[in-house]
Amino acid sequence: MSRLSFRRAVITGGSSGIGFSIASLLVQQGTEVMLIARNPDNLAKAAAKLSELASASASSSASSSASSSGSVHTLSMDISDRGSMQKLEKALQNGPAPDLLINCAGTAYPHYFEQLDSDIFDAMVSTNLTGTWNVLKTVVPFMQPGGGGRIVNVSSVAGLVGTFGYTAYSATKFGIIGLSEALRNELSVKGIRVSVLCPPDTNTPQLEEENRTKPAETRAIAGNAGILEPEQVAKSLLKGLKKNTFIIIPGFQGVMINLIKRLFPGLLFSIIDSTAKKTSGRKHE
Ligand SMILES: NC(=O)c1ccc[n+]([C@@H]2O[C@H](COP(=O)([O-])OP(=O)(O)OC[C@H]3O[C@@H](n4cnc5c(N)ncnc54)[C@H](OP(=O)(O)O)[C@@H]3O)[C@@H](O)[C@H]2O)c1
Repeated sequence: MSRLSFRRAVITGGSSGIGFSIASLLVQQGTEVMLIARNPDNLAKAAAKLSELASASASSSASSSASSSGSVHTLSMDISDRGSMQKLEKALQNGPAPDLLINCAGTAYPHYFEQLDSDIFDAMVSTNLTGTWNVLKTVVPFMQPGGGGRIVNVSSVAGLVGTFGYTAYSATKFGIIGLSEALRNELSVKGIRVSVLCPPDTNTPQLEEENRTKPAETRAIAGNAGILEPEQVAKSLLKGLKKNTFIIIPGFQGVMINLIKRLFPGLLFSIIDSTAKKTSGRKHE
């Protein structure tokens, strides 16, 4: 297993949900974190909670081997806006080089393909895929070759299995995996490791938002992968990073779904197709 203490982590989407839970674990280990999100009030609230956690953990473990103070910085910006990357670049010029990047910011809007507005597709691509690309292009040059740097791009179980209601979302999350796999290979020569996190449904504000438009068929199919708490996802990520796993899938059901997809794709398709048909049938009874 590799070391797991980081000096400086950049976390997009760090003000909420999964990103916030990852930041919580990191500050307690003494990692300096830079949270990126758009809403400045939410960023300030998250930073205050994280600073409390960092100081509580520093005072309870005076003998900690943490390498820095667990300090928290925030940057309010839209990752889909390439122009705003100058702001991130400027922030990275001060302080230690980042040795961990978590690309967690993302958005989901499940709906029937025929009812999904193309502008929503564009917005999902802009944040989930182009946004991840923009942040990678900005942060990677600051990561030191041979410095043990780690990058995590957040995909989803919907990035492993194309699922009813997730035509646009799955397109972006499959894209994240392709981007990460190619980048993994390229950055391996610099000693920077790339991983992808593929959570199942996780109890966060995004999931609440999704539930407003999620088709009944999507609910029925996603039910097979279970629901996790963001803290469980964050712990699973750190465990996966320790083991140098490329695709990190939190939860047993997600792991099984991926395995069946790889080994017996026809079986998985017949399960999800029959779930979709049964659910649609019930709606039209
Ligand atoms: N929750 C799930 O069931 C689930 C399952 C699988 C994968 N995921 C993935 O996990 C990641 C985190 O999701 P979550 O559930 O933790 O969501 P969340 O609680 O809604 O948090 C999303 C975070 O991303 C930020 N964000 C969104 N758009 C942004 C933009 N354009 N620029 C900068 N920041 C932006 C949000 O802050 P602002 O709104 O203030 O910008 C917030 O901090 C996403 O990539 C999501 O697709 C989630």
